[in-house]
Amino acid sequence: MLEVRAIDTYYGETQALFDVSFDVGTAEVLTLLGANGAGKTTALRSILGLTRPRKGDILLDGQSLMARETHEIARAGIGWVPDDRRICPTLSVAKNLSLGIKRTRYRAWSVSEVTEIFSPLKYLMAREAETLSGGEMQMVAIGRALLGSPGLVLFDEPSQGLAPKIVDDVLSVIRRLKREGIASIVVEQNAEIALSVADSVVVLAQGTVAWKGAAEELKADPALKRKLLGGAQ
Ligand SMILES: Nc1ncnc2c1ncn2[C@@H]1O[C@H](COP(=O)(O)OP(=O)(O)OP(=O)(O)O)[C@@H](O)[C@H]1O
Ligand SMILES: [Mg+2]
Repeated sequence: MLEVRAIDTYYGETQALFDVSFDVGTAEVLTLLGANGAGKTTALRSILGLTRPRKGDILLDGQSLMARETHEIARAGIGWVPDDRRICPTLSVAKNLSLGIKRTRYRAWSVSEVTEIFSPLKYLMAREAETLSGGEMQMVAIGRALLGSPGLVLFDEPSQGLAPKIVDDVLSVIRRLKREGIASIVVEQNAEIALSVADSVVVLAQGTVAWKGAAEELKADPALKRKLLGGAQ
């Protein structure tokens, strides 16, 4: 459903991505792995139109996203769970969630479905978001992305700083999305966590694709895994 074709992305004059290509199929979970500074967040920002590639093309269901504004890309069905969560601190949980509500051509989610997935949110609706724990904020960030009716969700380091139980909840959501026909791109520093849900893998190194293939292939080859991810393990 998503095709990233030979993109070059820059910050000012500094090139961060070099000829990066990969595809994500319907209901596929792709993990983007790589060390700090490899270009993982930049790849997500390129897809979202936040940092526009200077070269190449990005297509969703065959339609180029390159000339579209970020809000149009969201309406086309791409959801985002940013690494810093971007919750509005002075607004309630309910308001933060409602800010995410959008209709797209993909499955719509209701607030009650979100609170069924993340049951602690049920009792936190009136709370100011700045008083939430890190795990609760992540639930709001993911819930808000689901309320945007995505066909593809971009997760930037969703396990970062979270207790193992919450990480399991996040992984369960990614599996649930897959069962519902929704694709994910999961950026992770922790390859073990990512490989436990991924169908396919892209390893970035210094802004280039160092390896791509099936998650099974990487899991079955510890030497290759060490070679590609040695520093990140
Ligand atoms: N706003 C920015 N301005 C200038 N350079 C940037 C900016 N954001 C990122 N970069 C540079 O682009 C390169 C890729 O950064 P990016 O944030 O995509 O890496 P990452 O793989 O997400 O790393 P991390 O695992 O640390 O989050 C790095 O060299 C980084 O310093
Ligand atoms: Mg990053």
